[in-house]
Amino acid sequence: MKLAVNIAGVELKNPVMTASGTFGSGRDFEPWIDLNRLGCVVVKGVAATPWEGNPPPRIVETWGGMINSVGLQNPGVEYFIAEDIPWLRQFDTRICVNIVGRTVSEYVAVAERLASEDVDLLELNISCPNIKEGGVAFGVQAEAAAAVTSAVKKVARQPLIVKLSPNVSDIAEIARAVEGAGADAISLINTLLGSRIDIRKRKFILSMKHGGLSGPAIKPVAVRMVWQVAQAVKLPVIGMGGIMTGEDAIEFILAGATAIAVGTASLLNPEATMQVLEGMERYMRETGVEDIAELVGSVK
Ligand code: FUM
Repeated sequence: MKLAVNIAGVELKNPVMTASGTFGSGRDFEPWIDLNRLGCVVVKGVAATPWEGNPPPRIVETWGGMINSVGLQNPGVEYFIAEDIPWLRQFDTRICVNIVGRTVSEYVAVAERLASEDVDLLELNISCPNIKEGGVAFGVQAEAAAAVTSAVKKVARQPLIVKLSPNVSDIAEIARAVEGAGADAISLINTLLGSRIDIRKRKFILSMKHGGLSGPAIKPVAVRMVWQVAQAVKLPVIGMGGIMTGEDAIEFILAGATAIAVGTASLLNPEATMQVLEGMERYMRETGVEDIAELVGSVK
């Protein structure tokens, strides 16, 4: 059975990736799973300098998922290079760095700094809804999305995945814009903007009032958007949004995803990535599929 997939010239041993922000750099998961079995670790967003993130409360549960307004807290690219790359390189898996910024030049600075480092892929995060400048502000408007993609592409030495926001009316337009600007692959979806209110206090629960909704509640939206993007562009697509099981992952592959990422499920169950992989293998065995590539985009 063949599970290996290719994302912009980088071979992943299987299509299972981690969704940025739900796996750190993998340290907390090592006691639970064999990181060598992952297709790729996508690390929490990395900025040019350390970011503190938003004040608490910044995570709240909801039916079928959770809402976060973490605000891309991270120790910065120098820490990532010194501590996380050597740690991750102990494992036989691909490394993808989610890069974040408030301005185009901040995104460019991270890609430039990583150009000579031993990482396999970059993921341009233009879809985080939790920061006042940058993030999703670049991902909801085709021209801005194209501008930051082409600026980063000029300095990047690793293939560039662009991570899209679902908080738009025409996802295909944004996907075509980043393809035209030089993206090598597209990942989607990031979180949907949501809120929860404490009715006793008559106050928003999150300090930022709103945050990003993730988990199984958003899966149907994600499957629809992955299909729309796969129809709109020629680039490989990485699908995510509420994947809890191997069957969920197969839905994304049938919709057109070459690879998938497991996110919120890992916060509930640290073995989720492995269970998703095993579920995909089981589906392939049961349905007589020899190569995962046979399934990509084969929905009728
Ligand atoms: O707020 C956060 O750290 C979320 C990041 C993201 O949605 O990309």
